[in-house]
Amino acid sequence: MGLIIQAQPFFALNPGNVTANQITIKIAQTTTPSLRTLAAERGIKIGTAVRDLPLKNEPNYQKTLAEQFNIITPENVMKFEPLRPTPDSYNFEKADEMVAFASRNKMNLRGHVLVWHNQLPKWLKEKKLSRDEAISILRDHIYKVVGHYRGQIMAWDVVNEAMADDGRLRNTIWLQTIGPEYIEMAFRWAHEADPDAKLFYNDYGGEGRGRKSDAIYRLVEQLLLKKVPIDGVGLQMHVGLNYTPRPQEIANNMLRLSELGLEVHITEMDVKIQDGYGTRKERLVAQANIYRQMLQVCLKASNCKAFVMWGFTDAHSWIPQFTNRPDAALIFDENYQPKPAFYALVELLRQPVEVR
Ligand code: G3I
Repeated sequence: MGLIIQAQPFFALNPGNVTANQITIKIAQTTTPSLRTLAAERGIKIGTAVRDLPLKNEPNYQKTLAEQFNIITPENVMKFEPLRPTPDSYNFEKADEMVAFASRNKMNLRGHVLVWHNQLPKWLKEKKLSRDEAISILRDHIYKVVGHYRGQIMAWDVVNEAMADDGRLRNTIWLQTIGPEYIEMAFRWAHEADPDAKLFYNDYGGEGRGRKSDAIYRLVEQLLLKKVPIDGVGLQMHVGLNYTPRPQEIANNMLRLSELGLEVHITEMDVKIQDGYGTRKERLVAQANIYRQMLQVCLKASNCKAFVMWGFTDAHSWIPQFTNRPDAALIFDENYQPKPAFYALVELLRQPVEVR
């Protein structure tokens, strides 16, 4: 938000009185339009992951969130562990609060995540499960959670990170106990529980082209051949100054997914700067260029419908804790001040629409 002060001398035209220069200050409050306003004009969802504690306790967090974004993803409160503390109990309180916030602020929701190998409750990890027990637990979980939020979730990350980096299925508790069929089972149960929600496969490291990307493509192609209800692929886009997939490769990947009839969401974007070179200012400019490039790829792809970042303020990012090193991967700084990356996204969204 910039303040332009145009001072111009104003001569008071009054007879006989002391003429005095009056300075009128015309303040042209140049307010930078919000990302959500610009995104709506472009017909795209632009959003972020949301944490329950700052949402509850930090006015700046709530204000910036409501002002700037039209879609949100609960970062953690809809995962297996928080929702299901014991085999027979569900705790929807924190997730319900986030869903209510989204509703009050007319935001769409991405549900995250029904089937993952992380953040599972102790009771599940410690249990020696038979195949039938694992199927029963997973089906009950999906029916209960998707049913609880029926009609409120635009898109679910049904299965997350099922593919290992070598292009084989990750050896998770679900693969070990149920077998590879767990993936199609999960999608079918989610569709039965909420036929209107879009169902996504979500992963990292498969944004461009390569072994993992090709394996994900084959996986979703097979699901479609089996008439499994899947609507899209989530490209997480956790990148950094030292690792960024080439935009043209991402565009090619999005195109081949569109040829399968699948939507694409960028679901968890952040851009680490800890491994970059140059001054902090130079790294923030390089970061801004990467954010702009990835939004550009999404805007140009006919099937890319959402651009979601994994947090929006450097005050609340998973990266410093995960890497045990300071970083600044998001588009607002820790004081909720816009960074070059924010202005890069605004500038891109303000450009005339290129015909897709
Ligand atoms: O809620 C407990 C709290 O009760 C306890 O006191 C505390 C002790 O450390 O842990 C808290 O849980 C933490 C949870 O975040 C909520 O804050 C977990 O330890 C911590 O491991 C967990 O990290 C999350 C991580 O997923 C693992 O689930 C990150 O915040 C979250 O950003 C990250 O997000 C994932 C996506 O879901 C999938 N794609 C990759 C992405 C980054 O890893």
